[in-house]
Amino acid sequence: MSFTTVPVALGARSYDIRIGSGLLAEAAQHLAPLLAAPKVILVVDEAVEMVARTMLLSLAKHGIATDIVTIPAGEAAKSFAGLEALINRLLEYAPDRKTTLIAVGGGVVGDLAGFAASILLRGVDFIQVPTTLLAQVDSSVGGKTGINTRAGKNLVGSFYQPRRVLIDLDVLTTLPPRELKAGYAEILKYGLIMDAEFFAWCEREGEKLLAGNIALRELAIATCCHKKAQIVGEDERESDRRALLNFGHTFGHALEAEAGYDGSLLHGEAVAIGMVMGCRLSEKLGLLAQGSAMRLARHLRAVGMKTQLSETGHAWQVEGITRHFVRDKKAEAGALTFIVLEAIGQASILKNVAPELAREVVAEMLEGTWST
Ligand code: GLY
Repeated sequence: MSFTTVPVALGARSYDIRIGSGLLAEAAQHLAPLLAAPKVILVVDEAVEMVARTMLLSLAKHGIATDIVTIPAGEAAKSFAGLEALINRLLEYAPDRKTTLIAVGGGVVGDLAGFAASILLRGVDFIQVPTTLLAQVDSSVGGKTGINTRAGKNLVGSFYQPRRVLIDLDVLTTLPPRELKAGYAEILKYGLIMDAEFFAWCEREGEKLLAGNIALRELAIATCCHKKAQIVGEDERESDRRALLNFGHTFGHALEAEAGYDGSLLHGEAVAIGMVMGCRLSEKLGLLAQGSAMRLARHLRAVGMKTQLSETGHAWQVEGITRHFVRDKKAEAGALTFIVLEAIGQASILKNVAPELAREVVAEMLEGTWST
């Protein structure tokens, strides 16, 4: 068994992230020692049911009673109705406090199953098996769980850490290229907010990584998990530093909300454009060297990602996008807070950003007065 281990240090709730090839076929070796009892329920995105079957074989061979609950692919499952349906189905399998839930899928399944684990029988153990690049480098690590509501995304949930994150690189081979690129945007985020050398590495190696180089994928995923573990270890409940992980997300979330979560703009695609806008905002504030946004956009283009709103096929309106800023979880008493860059590799939290400036960034992206 060869794999990379990244520890997440959170006192009594510490856990390891394991990253490697073929880990799911050996799921029992990686997970059995953590189980309070040999009974698990896999909560599986229907799109990756085959992956769950592979795990089931390994678990069953080791005498671990395994049930599977599939949930429909897509963001709609991450709702009060989806949560209720999941909890009711889990209860049909008569779980007890020693049962472990294992989330197998992307961010939707991880967030939903994690939240369910945190409230089922007032809390049962939980393991993350992320199957998208985005979930592997971001959402599966750090214990944020939750669902979407009418008022917005992720407004209901819990901080609930998994007991392990098991990342099998092989699942990426069947991931659609578009999803892979969307996940890559979050990889770039770590370089932008905290490691200029890693960003430069991405500029050199990104295309090969996306084309399928497994060693580069392992290195990038381990690097991102390590960086996320460092931030989460310092600020688990996002009272401060963890907010840096939201770089590009205020813009990105606004774009997603305006697009209507209809699959036309994936989260990572919105974040990629949002990060370009975050760089532009930082440039306008005089914090970031001019040309940085262009450097990011050049790299996004080189790997085949969109950098301009005009390319997304929506009829955007400035007000339509900016009205979402005040609903951002970082907004306090109506004042806007943005994550800004002081350099590539160095981010900070900036409160009281003038709404006009954020509006200007949106307007220039829409009007093409700043373009890549
Ligand atoms: N995805 C951002 C965070 O986990 O804090």
